[in-house]
Amino acid sequence: MAAGNDNFIDPEDIGSNLSTEPAIGELIARRLRRRDALRGLVGTGAAATLGGELLGGTAWAQPAGPSSLTFKEVAHGLDKTHHIPEGYEAQVLIRWGDPVAAGAPAFDPARLTAADQEKQFGYNCDFIGLHALPAGSRSGDRFLMVVNHEYTNTNLMFAGMGAGRTANLKATKPQVEVEVAAHGGSVIEIARDSGGWKVVPDSKYARRITGTTPMDIAGPAAGHDKLKTSADPTGRKVLGMLNNCAGGETPWGTWLTAEENFNGYFGGDAEKMPDAKAYKRYGISKETWYGWAQHVDRFNVEKEPNEPNRFGWIVEIDPYDPAAAPIKRTALGRFKHEGCHHALAKDGRVVIYMGDDERFDYVYKFVTARPWNPQDRAANRNLLDDGTLYVARFGDDGKVEWLPLIQGQGPLTPENGFSSQADVMIYTRVAADLLKPTPMDRPEDVEANPVSGNVYVVLTNNTRRTEQQVNRANPLARNAHGHVIEIVPKDGDHVASESTWSIFLVGGKPGIDPGARYHRATSDNGWLSCPDNCAFDSKGRIWIATDGAPTAAGIADGLYGADTAGYGRGLTRCFFQAPTGAEVCGPILTPDDSTVFLAIQHPGEDAGSTFEKPSTRWPDFKDGMPPRPAVIAIIKKGGGSIGS
Ligand code: FEO
Ligand code: CA
Ligand code: CA
Repeated sequence: MAAGNDNFIDPEDIGSNLSTEPAIGELIARRLRRRDALRGLVGTGAAATLGGELLGGTAWAQPAGPSSLTFKEVAHGLDKTHHIPEGYEAQVLIRWGDPVAAGAPAFDPARLTAADQEKQFGYNCDFIGLHALPAGSRSGDRFLMVVNHEYTNTNLMFAGMGAGRTANLKATKPQVEVEVAAHGGSVIEIARDSGGWKVVPDSKYARRITGTTPMDIAGPAAGHDKLKTSADPTGRKVLGMLNNCAGGETPWGTWLTAEENFNGYFGGDAEKMPDAKAYKRYGISKETWYGWAQHVDRFNVEKEPNEPNRFGWIVEIDPYDPAAAPIKRTALGRFKHEGCHHALAKDGRVVIYMGDDERFDYVYKFVTARPWNPQDRAANRNLLDDGTLYVARFGDDGKVEWLPLIQGQGPLTPENGFSSQADVMIYTRVAADLLKPTPMDRPEDVEANPVSGNVYVVLTNNTRRTEQQVNRANPLARNAHGHVIEIVPKDGDHVASESTWSIFLVGGKPGIDPGARYHRATSDNGWLSCPDNCAFDSKGRIWIATDGAPTAAGIADGLYGADTAGYGRGLTRCFFQAPTGAEVCGPILTPDDSTVFLAIQHPGEDAGSTFEKPSTRWPDFKDGMPPRPAVIAIIKKGGGSIGS
């Protein structure tokens, strides 16, 4: 979701972690440690030994030599359209309103209806996943593509709403129904021919999932009283998924999609309700971001106080079975989930890394109780219902401790409100607070590099961190540009309860922004701000998408590539620049590295931008056509690996 855009939703929501105030002794100790941290920012782990030369606070060097990425960088800038390197080609694969399900009508922005939207590509595409066709093959030319639709921009979807977030509250009931239908996700079939990537029309797999699609609730919290509503006295069935941001996939080929800022859809006087304290920890207040509570009772906490407890989960969806109900997997905890990427432990258990994207919230991992079964896909069906959720403490000694969230252990007792594992999962943030993990600077993607096994924690920003709140893993007060941490699992095993960590890079402009750190050869176009989602190519290079670039300085969000090992380690290079108002989401490369897909989210989300006068009409640039969030494919002309 967009950051730093004061005309729209504050994506960072309200800082709701109230347990972050340190004691005075700790304050003094931290100040001392901070001096160490700033001196040796990159020296705690692998960073110092992999050959990268990092730069902070000095003049530019010319980009040359060390990077394995040879594309000609895109120059930093900001305008109505996107930019790619010379020799590359970008194709729009699918846009908001394009047909997905059978019988979908053509897009008509003047006459949006929920019934049409339920068959058309949703709004604000975010996570992108690729699942090979035929299932289980290693095909590179045919995939099921799964895409999240995170949220909607009322002011850019409908005429006459005016600008900014207050437009959301003006939506009529039919407009709210369109918005609900524009959330969720899409499954499309795509294929490559000599002309590039195309959506396969009328695929038997094609499917829309929306804010009203029936879903199951599974795992420890299923059936708990706090999940029961007047429409669902079982606590096991829910309508829809909301604010699906990033995600991941399982080794058995299902899609994991992460519900993030679900709090914003709920209205009513949360402060006067019995669950006011828990609501507050999750940012649920009467300051609703949308008009939904006015028109749909279940979004009003005064009418359905448990409905918010049914959102904020990881949802597992089988893209190969269009009839299968999505399943909310409560064993993975409830928070503002961002990514959900897996790694395999040496014994075959599945480890899933996750971030809770809020200022001062935490990094988590989930470890399945059993190994996955590569021979029998059906045997993995409910693997995610049984396992252990851990929250991370990043020590100033360069170690990560993974603290288990298990009812009955440590402070997670009935006296503290945790009588069952269901309580721990429904109120994961509250339980985690008691274990004193490290409050982070907005953890978004947390993803293992498939080549090295090292795990990258992408931290977007946190301008509310004070000097007193810095620690070695979050070393900057008023962190406006974010940073990236690299975790090295002990002995390469993702289930190890201890790991080591170091800082991979610190965002911002070297020489200008305090603490900015990259490889010394990073160019004037290669520095980045507000890292959000990431991907890896088959060579283990990281590709970082940004959300919140300093547009006032004339810099758009983009996609940056960097080596993670060798002499080019940490040398970020700008590969893509987004159109104005947009963030770049969902980066993913095909297994042969020949294509990178990107989700271009909320183009035109700028101050003063309206349906009638948007700041851009990307990607169609036709009179009367609003900007349309879209998935694009970027290939190298004549073929070859992205970035080379
Ligand atoms: Fe939806 Fe955390 O970005
Ligand atoms: Ca974001
Ligand atoms: Ca994101």
